[in-house]
Amino acid sequence: MQPALDYAAQNAAAFRQQLFDLIRIPSVSTLPERAGAVREAAQWLADNMRRAGIENVAVMPTAGHPVVYGDWLHAPDAPTVLIYGHYDVQPAEKADGWDGDPFQPVERDGKVYGRGATDDKGQMFAHIKAVESILQTVGALPVNVKFVIEGEEEIGSPNLPPFLAEHKDKLGADVCVISDGSILSEAQPSIVYALRGLTALEIEVHGPATDLHSGMYGGAVHNPVQALAEIIAGLHDADGRVTVPGFYDDVLALSAEERAELSKTDISEADWIAQNGAPAAWGEPEFSIRERVGARPTLEVNGMAGGFYGAGVKTVLPARALAKITCRLVADQNPQKIFDLIKRHIEQTAPPTVRVEVRGLKGSGHPALVDINAPSMRAAITAYERGFGAPPVFMREGGSIPIVADFQQTLGVPVVLMGFGLNTDSPHGPNEHFHLSMFRKGIDTAIHFLDAIKTTE
Ligand code: BES
Ligand code: MN
Ligand code: MN
Repeated sequence: MQPALDYAAQNAAAFRQQLFDLIRIPSVSTLPERAGAVREAAQWLADNMRRAGIENVAVMPTAGHPVVYGDWLHAPDAPTVLIYGHYDVQPAEKADGWDGDPFQPVERDGKVYGRGATDDKGQMFAHIKAVESILQTVGALPVNVKFVIEGEEEIGSPNLPPFLAEHKDKLGADVCVISDGSILSEAQPSIVYALRGLTALEIEVHGPATDLHSGMYGGAVHNPVQALAEIIAGLHDADGRVTVPGFYDDVLALSAEERAELSKTDISEADWIAQNGAPAAWGEPEFSIRERVGARPTLEVNGMAGGFYGAGVKTVLPARALAKITCRLVADQNPQKIFDLIKRHIEQTAPPTVRVEVRGLKGSGHPALVDINAPSMRAAITAYERGFGAPPVFMREGGSIPIVADFQQTLGVPVVLMGFGLNTDSPHGPNEHFHLSMFRKGIDTAIHFLDAIKTTE
């Protein structure tokens, strides 16, 4: 693989310019007015893949944003690797706290700043440049490769499960590799073997027929904003545990060995609050911070609305209040079952003085657990050792990539999560960035992975 590694080193500046060009396309999947940019990003990627030497490249339609497909299938006796990533990004405005335009990438202190730099344009693109580096030097890949790069990950991949089912045969593979997460540090790579799932809902509390004069009615009509606050306050106990009956029933317990292994990736409270700016850590006292985020489910209030919050005073007793909630789930929790439990619990415990509606929202996903003893894991370990110069540790991640469970179940393919980001990259936040050294090492690691998987599968 040395010629490929040399090619990647020699072309580092060109690869970086190409990544800048991709970041410049504002492919925000959730905004209807960006649909043209999303399509443009798909076309840009398809062109880039063709020039890399990838074959059968196609922008394939779905009921939503398209999937970019491409393959190279000339290694008949070798395994097939499915490379998944996403070219869509989260919304970003300069006013959110960015130092510059989120879609005008700039290089500063060895990092490229721009929306999507780490999530997931930079990480996904590393695989395309790895394949290019091998094809343009060696001329043939050690294994077969199929790319599935989607444009709807940031809105919960609504159209990808039917796409996978429809193209089940075309997408068959021995292993799926995904670079859409982070490692512990540049000196200490890590392999994620658990991702959390998701269930989303909203609670609407209705009180009086219209907003009322709080002097004429206050004290004898239950205020919906207050009632909602009471309902929400009741969803956790003083230790941060969710009080919904049955919520933890399907949570797989951590074994002593797993806790010991996970403790190698633990983070101190001081480092934790330095990273996120909160005054203190919070949560279930009998679990470490890494366990709380990686192995425990949550119920999170994403926002509450109701009544008056303008400047000054308005003596109003509001007619309604709303809260948005998402739960992060862990194996083996089921998103629908958890929603049903929460709905039933709130409906049964809500006071009769208000009317409460609990509605499910789109965007749920199953949690995923990856077998760390699968042969493909050995290839990933070897790849990190060669690409980063250190053996990886195994860890759990709090974020969600709902399609991972579909790859495992619909396609029956084992998944390897091989992140190239760092958790300080600010994905979804202002000044998102990707370290150019991680881009370089990511490409090398992806080259080593394709080489190593040839013999381990
Ligand atoms: N790449 C992230 C998921 C992730 C985050 C993995 C951190 C590992 C570490 C992905 O793009 C993402 O943001 N997922 C959403 C899923 C949702 C939109 C259905 C998430 O986790 O909120
Ligand atoms: Mn992502
Ligand atoms: Mn994301």
